[in-house]
Amino acid sequence: MQKLEQVYEGKAKKVFRTDDPELFIVDYKDDATAFNGLKKGTIAGKGVINNQMTNRLMVKMEKAGIPTHFVKELSERETLVKRVSIVPLEVIIRNLSAGSFAKRYGVEEGIVFDAPTIEFSYKNDDLGDPLLNRYHALALKLATSEEIEAIEKYAFAVNDVLKAFWAECDVTLVDFKLEFGKLPDGTIVLADEISPDTCRLWDSKTHEKLDKDRFRRDMGGVEDAYTEIMKRLLAHDAD
Ligand code: TMP
Repeated sequence: MQKLEQVYEGKAKKVFRTDDPELFIVDYKDDATAFNGLKKGTIAGKGVINNQMTNRLMVKMEKAGIPTHFVKELSERETLVKRVSIVPLEVIIRNLSAGSFAKRYGVEEGIVFDAPTIEFSYKNDDLGDPLLNRYHALALKLATSEEIEAIEKYAFAVNDVLKAFWAECDVTLVDFKLEFGKLPDGTIVLADEISPDTCRLWDSKTHEKLDKDRFRRDMGGVEDAYTEIMKRLLAHDAD
């Protein structure tokens, strides 16, 4: 598959056109940002881990009946994906309180919810990805109500599969962010990545953070945390 010109560069990935108009190549970088790009750095080896972890988790989603953009891993950092138009919503599922939820509602981190929560933010860097509800999303025509329904259903299904898998690895899935895309025929599919950049993952026993919060919060041990979480995934994910 020929890698043609770059069509997009995000904070953590580049996207390239290919000789097939329906397929793009995603290339994962080691660049890390936080707080809407205010904090910048690199996490050595992150691109390789995020690429390989995302792909293995996307395969699990497909097996569970959740459609994704994943086609084929091409190299350590590159993956062939279906061309989608990204629905400009960040979809966040939470199983425990942490991060902006804990801050917004003035509660401690680590409270286990009886049922997972879902929230949306408007994917718009200039506005700082503001929180919105489904009525706002409809008013802004970011998605149709059918699309939002499908997105919610898939997001909770992703949570069920991910939570169960990480539990096998002695990891608590605290929360995560998903993005969805639309295929040319209008089908909604899971897109973007599922990685320590986009999930909070705590060791189930020690509650040690094995995700990007170590970078966001200047905790040190960032590379080691990414290596450890990948090691656990590989130990429990039979090929
Ligand atoms: P939050 O608590 O900061 O709202 O983050 C919730 C989850 O979403 C957490 O697992 C990190 C992830 N996330 C992203 O992937 N990208 C983002 O831009 C933000 C703010 C959070």
